[in-house]
Amino acid sequence: MAGRFISLEGGEGVGKSTQLSRLAGALRARGHDVVETREPGGSPGAEAIRALLLEGEAERWSPQSEALLFAAARADHVAKLIRPALERGAWVLSDRFLDSSLAYQGGAGGVGAGAIRALHAIGSGGLMPDRTLLLQLPAEAAAARAMKRDGHAGDRIGARGAGYHAQVAAAFEAMAEAEPDRFRIVDATGSTDAVAGRILVALEDLL
Ligand code: TYD
Repeated sequence: MAGRFISLEGGEGVGKSTQLSRLAGALRARGHDVVETREPGGSPGAEAIRALLLEGEAERWSPQSEALLFAAARADHVAKLIRPALERGAWVLSDRFLDSSLAYQGGAGGVGAGAIRALHAIGSGGLMPDRTLLLQLPAEAAAARAMKRDGHAGDRIGARGAGYHAQVAAAFEAMAEAEPDRFRIVDATGSTDAVAGRILVALEDLL
């Protein structure tokens, strides 16, 4: 595969989507073919699964069902959008990928990392990003941003309690520490420009 696969990760309201479009612009200015995508979703099949995951009752799915649905959505996203784009040499930027399943369902949901990785091997051939940017913001600042953006505490998963989101944040941090070659922790405080600059530094060796 000739392209580059970059994922942006972090909790709710850390500014991933704003930064993803900023980064796409910066890469296009350097002449790269760039594909912007997100999870859950990114392909028609995965977008249909997204609605199942993010709408409805809080207890609609068990953590295990949720993990299977995210893995199914990801399998379609990888097969239909991500792999073809990488094969033609594009940079693929994804707002969330496997690490979200590891942190939310695997960590906070208690399904476990081994099970999530097994589903990823079956569904998506184990495809991993070349670089994962973990955007970090103090919990209060992130909650305030998410509230400002959405006017409420979020979708079915975003609306879970502070304890759940604290476990998500701890799982992300532990994964970043365990895989320092793939992960870069990016301080998401300050202006959009300041964060965008930090992201380019975190990708310097790939550019
Ligand atoms: P989204 O609207 O994309 O939120 P955000 O702006 O926070 O990224 O909703 C995605 C939600 O789904 C978010 O609460 C995180 C959750 N999620 C998982 O629990 N597991 C996953 O594998 C993925 C991709 C997302």
